[in-house]
Amino acid sequence: MHPANALPKSALSPDKQEYGDDPHSVRKTDHYKAEYVQSFVNKWDDLINWNARAATEGQFFIDQLRQRGVRRVLDVATGTGFHSCRLIENGFEVVSADGSAEMLAKAFSNARERGHVLRTVKADWRWLNRDVHQKFDAVICLGNSFTHLFDENDRRKALAEFYAALRHDGVLVLDQRNYDSILDGNYAGGRTYYYCGDDVSVRPVHVDDGLARFEYSFPDKSKFHLNMFPLRREYVRRLTAEVGFQRTTTFGDFQETYQEEEPDFLIHFAEKAYRQESKS
Ligand SMILES: C[S@@+](CC[C@H](N)C(=O)[O-])C[C@H]1O[C@@H](n2cnc3c(N)ncnc32)[C@H](O)[C@@H]1O
Repeated sequence: MHPANALPKSALSPDKQEYGDDPHSVRKTDHYKAEYVQSFVNKWDDLINWNARAATEGQFFIDQLRQRGVRRVLDVATGTGFHSCRLIENGFEVVSADGSAEMLAKAFSNARERGHVLRTVKADWRWLNRDVHQKFDAVICLGNSFTHLFDENDRRKALAEFYAALRHDGVLVLDQRNYDSILDGNYAGGRTYYYCGDDVSVRPVHVDDGLARFEYSFPDKSKFHLNMFPLRREYVRRLTAEVGFQRTTTFGDFQETYQEEEPDFLIHFAEKAYRQESKS
């Protein structure tokens, strides 16, 4: 074993986010790995605050999955492991995937602290089934993760890979910020997003049709950014239908009925089971 400081510099992941001279021009699907640098990964749990998030979500995902008879779940955006751990603790069988090695390592150690051994797979969504060979009752892609894909082709390919990883009647659960309200100028700044720690502020610092750049400020004055693609609600619902999902139900902040501009987050449940009746 080599101590980390004996490794060549190129083997170590950078600790600083790099957006170059023009951060607004960084609109690439592949850039997510460079955004989740170790220093940001270390702070992610301050941002999401597991206890507060568990209290706000309550039993929502657990109840929804149970109602659909789900047992085996593939968490494709594991991050630091919040949903993987919650689902394991509620009796689900979980495989935890992510394209970021730093995120997966953090998830594994978080799970160990809670007494679980995560089954992790490092996999990019665009070629998920190259690395994941089982079929699942549910694929979850939570915490505003799908927004990292900048090209439409990447979104279609990722959805097709999620579809292929599901059993014949499986469900994809995918959430996103309510970008419609942000793009249409109805964004209520200062609202507490449901997965935020108390001392962390999150705000969009640039928004146009092709980019939502968010800034995350921490109590120690450190700041990080994420460049994301602003997904409109109906666009995501259309893409899920186009890759073959038969029905997509969209919740706003864990409620089925909502005013379109009100919720901070939208949660889509895209069902694979074939339906004769018209799609809703
Ligand atoms: C915003 S974080 C959310 C993490 C976690 N689900 C949560 O809610 O705390 C997005 C995650 O998606 C992963 N990700 C982004 N694009 C990806 C891709 N193309 N393939 C695989 N993972 C990806 C990132 O590495 C990161 O861990």
